[in-house]
Amino acid sequence: MAAAHIVSLTDQIKQEVSFEPSTSGHGHARLLQLVDELKLAIETPTETVLRLIYQPPENAALRTVVDLGIFPILVKDGKKDGLSAADIAVCTGADKGLIVRLMRVMTALGLCESTEAEVYRSTDKSISMTQPIGQDGIPCIYDLTVPTLAKLPEYLREHNYINPEEYSSSPMKWAVGQSQFEWLARNKRHQALFNSYMSSRREGKPNWFDVYPLASLVDGTVSHPDSVFLVDIGGNQGHDLDRFVAQHKTVPGRVILQDLPKIVSGVNRPGIETMGYSFLDPQPIKGARAYYFRAIFHDWPDHICQKILLNTVSAMDPTYSRIIIVDFVLPDTNAPRMQSAMDIQMMSIGAGVERSKRQWTELLASAGLKINGIWNTSPGVESIIEAVPDLGELEGLE
Ligand SMILES: C[S@@+](CC[C@H](N)C(=O)[O-])C[C@H]1O[C@@H](n2cnc3c(N)ncnc32)[C@H](O)[C@@H]1O
Repeated sequence: MAAAHIVSLTDQIKQEVSFEPSTSGHGHARLLQLVDELKLAIETPTETVLRLIYQPPENAALRTVVDLGIFPILVKDGKKDGLSAADIAVCTGADKGLIVRLMRVMTALGLCESTEAEVYRSTDKSISMTQPIGQDGIPCIYDLTVPTLAKLPEYLREHNYINPEEYSSSPMKWAVGQSQFEWLARNKRHQALFNSYMSSRREGKPNWFDVYPLASLVDGTVSHPDSVFLVDIGGNQGHDLDRFVAQHKTVPGRVILQDLPKIVSGVNRPGIETMGYSFLDPQPIKGARAYYFRAIFHDWPDHICQKILLNTVSAMDPTYSRIIIVDFVLPDTNAPRMQSAMDIQMMSIGAGVERSKRQWTELLASAGLKINGIWNTSPGVESIIEAVPDLGELEGLE
């Protein structure tokens, strides 16, 4: 443990806190990174290895606690004086001895407090476990990914360590029998959890339209009764468009939500037209001002992304329409932990990829598109990429 390094990190943390004690933005991301570095600097190498080895049981315990509905009980009745393991056992029907063991992990993870033996008190982190991001996101993502992740090393060994690039033969298909979206379609409860998680996972983060220069899109829009301003492709049940429409009631043109028919059937949101559509087919809405994709391309390997892009390009007015992509743009060095891990998760469940700027440039170029600009408020959040047909390139292709 190099004391000078630890002191230097602590000083940087102090400085960062005095600069920007906010919950988003570059300063916030830098602070989290420094805290990770500090932990690594303090841990011995053996402690680091042990911490990593014992992550899976933590996740399994958390999944079980969510299953038992312990956090809502704790938040309701355990705010002030806390709730005993015996009380929780009565409420959940689980063995008290098991509750003690599970809650020990929750306390160690900082998801609740325990100031006396076998008594647990809720905190703001417990509350987040009762909201869709925790309550729905944890079981959905655990059940969707863990069976495949457990077998990923075996898959990669058996496939001679070839980078997975086929959605139809992804690690998940090999381990579980279906890739991500087929599995969700067959597991109704998980599809509902997934939809809920999608709508909640960016809580507190800036909206894309607060970061991207929307005025540049609005300004050049040609308005007529049928004109389409924005198409949200793969927009799930419209949570993102809903927020957009709530803040931009007077955009020049129609606003359309597209997703698989089963996902959008029954969705009814004011100011938004809904259309069942697969982006693996040519885009039926021609000449829209903007075709918007959020968290779509990271689900898919390059050749399918290229197909989705070409299907979109086929509908674009080359000098008027734009594509707006919201996804991570991985830095070439020091990619944040969550994004690096998510890349492995995407690889596992559908041969998907989190991409660097170079990978985005190459992918977009493969569909005759070029990047106009990339906007980002922090390395911890998705970037916004604007792409347009590369007219020189398209002429060359003709
Ligand atoms: C990771 S979610 C992103 C949802 C939303 N854009 C967001 O950022 O919250 C991917 C979405 O793609 C949709 N999807 C999957 N396959 C599709 C297809 N072939 N055509 C259209 N949408 C599809 C899924 O139903 C899901 O809503």
